[in-house]
Amino acid sequence: MNQNKGFYITTPIYYVNDIPHIGHAYTTVAADILSRYMRLKGREVFFLTGTDEHGQKVEKAAQQKGKNPKEHADIMVENFKNLWKALNISNDAFIRTTDEDHKKTVQYIMQKLFDKGEIVKKKYSGMYCTPCERFWTEKDLIEGKCPDCGREVDCIEEENYFFLMSKYQQPLIEYIESNPGYILPESRKNEVLGFLKSKPLGDLCISRPKQRLQWGITLPFDEDYVTYVWFDALVNYYSALNYLAPSHIEWWPPDHHLIGKDILTTHAVYWSTMLMALELPLPRNIFAHGWWTVEGKKMSKSLGNVVNPWEIIDKYGVDAFRYFLFREVSFGLDGDFSEEALIRRINNDLANDLGNLLNRFLAMNEKYMKGKIEKHYKDDNFSKEIVNLTREIDDEKLWDEFKFNIVLEKIWNAVSLTNNYIAKKEPWRLSKEAPEKLPHILFNIWNAIRIIAVFLYPFMPDKALKIWDALGLREYGIDYKMLNWEIEIKEIKTQKVEQLFPRIEKQEVKKKQEEKVEDLIGIEDFMKIKLRVGKVLSAERVKGSKKLIKLIVDIGEQRQIVAGIGEQYSPEDLIGKFIVVLSNLKPAKLMGVESQGMLLAATGNDGKISILTVEKEVNPGSSIK
Ligand code: ME8
Repeated sequence: MNQNKGFYITTPIYYVNDIPHIGHAYTTVAADILSRYMRLKGREVFFLTGTDEHGQKVEKAAQQKGKNPKEHADIMVENFKNLWKALNISNDAFIRTTDEDHKKTVQYIMQKLFDKGEIVKKKYSGMYCTPCERFWTEKDLIEGKCPDCGREVDCIEEENYFFLMSKYQQPLIEYIESNPGYILPESRKNEVLGFLKSKPLGDLCISRPKQRLQWGITLPFDEDYVTYVWFDALVNYYSALNYLAPSHIEWWPPDHHLIGKDILTTHAVYWSTMLMALELPLPRNIFAHGWWTVEGKKMSKSLGNVVNPWEIIDKYGVDAFRYFLFREVSFGLDGDFSEEALIRRINNDLANDLGNLLNRFLAMNEKYMKGKIEKHYKDDNFSKEIVNLTREIDDEKLWDEFKFNIVLEKIWNAVSLTNNYIAKKEPWRLSKEAPEKLPHILFNIWNAIRIIAVFLYPFMPDKALKIWDALGLREYGIDYKMLNWEIEIKEIKTQKVEQLFPRIEKQEVKKKQEEKVEDLIGIEDFMKIKLRVGKVLSAERVKGSKKLIKLIVDIGEQRQIVAGIGEQYSPEDLIGKFIVVLSNLKPAKLMGVESQGMLLAATGNDGKISILTVEKEVNPGSSIK
């Protein structure tokens, strides 16, 4: 990493047509954590977030409210700005794509690409999904509907401007292959490479005729057209430096574009090739994190399960929320949100482990030392272990690759080590038997909590500062120097504070846990279930039903199974598949057709059914244990 340049990190710019939820909070808090860590280390940071305000969706939403799009955006943008304040987000700038200077930069870039022959006008016909603002080819459609949102598409023919993205297919493959850290996590890199290598890359339609969309940036070379959302939106990362941080112009390229996996292609392919055409350096890294679901289901307004960050902050506090998001799941993977899991983390990790450590220490230091801290550096085992852990936690690679859950795990190792040290040393016993040993032991505990607080700061800035005050360190800034085991301190006195993380005693949680225990089954129950691998020999739709498909499956013998998977699968997709069958289910009739068993399937994040198959070839009829 080039340490001389300032550290530049971005989040996606969020659509203003929606109110922010846990997903938006997730990406923004992640960028905040890394920004705060970099600042701790003394790096200059430019942390950018903002809003994406052009396009049909915003235009329509404004119309419905009887407002013009800018008025509508002005109101909606406050939701984001206020939430970032409440979440303690330390962004250095906030970009809006309706900023005049942003619009000028987009026009400048478009003109440049047009003059270079990288943008041309072409006739185009395609299937257009208005809600997603995307063209699809016939092949992309699923049962004639948009593959992303499942809604109706319209066939549209029109002339449009295209960015000649196709010619960058090979250079991009080569770039990604020779820069292994460019797209992370690794699985996302492989996904992008798989996509780039599997079919020719098309050119990218970057305009919309004004008769269809008014709310956009006019093309500098054709008044009748506006830019299409992505071209306008992606350029924000570049235009922001120009007018929101002109003194950081030389900080291009960014260190990280932090995004969700939903917008991987637009960043890894569209944006990368746009930058290649502009002959600008590519960002050091694009990191696509996983997706939050709620109690196993996709978040959606229609299900009414969208997690409102305001409510969570209100109920549990901002730092508990920030902590939970990054401790619960590994950042690249999908995560499932439930209040029960959040409460468990608060009670176990925050109240029990961390909160108790601080409170016990403060009470003992008050009692035995009258709150005074006396310097006693000794090269003992405890100090060596904490110093080793400090080094492990401070491994920049862990932070730079957003392995926040591992960082937190290691911080909690330090918490446990310190709790164990107290248990082993029993200061309450020493106070009677060998009081001369106490100052050194209490100093060691104070020192360990000090280092823990520095590392906690990026994750829980509020609570870390409260710990800092309690340790008597108010006049010392929380910074990197404070990670040293040995520091120069003047006279210091600790101060008792209110419980930082009160336990949450919730009747409902208890009840739920009891129910869970009742739900458990013994192995003898499981043994009653006969699961077998089945090979699908034939499949056809059940007449008169959209959902039901009749399968003949070889499970060592032939069985007829009727399954409700017809909306996601067509019969041809199923033939030859190795599936999982519950073979000792009582036969039942579905729409008059007998089913002698059941196939197993899961519901995907998109709410669609996905059947369980067997990874390797296995003999039909093999039992599953
Ligand atoms: O796509 N889990 O904006 P957007 C995790 N304007 N993260 C989630 C999430 C979830 N369930 N839901 C949303 C846009 N996110 C464009 C971006 S960038 C040049 C233009 C987060 O408002 C995640 O970061 O739909 C995702 O990429 C982003 O919100 C999408 O926000």
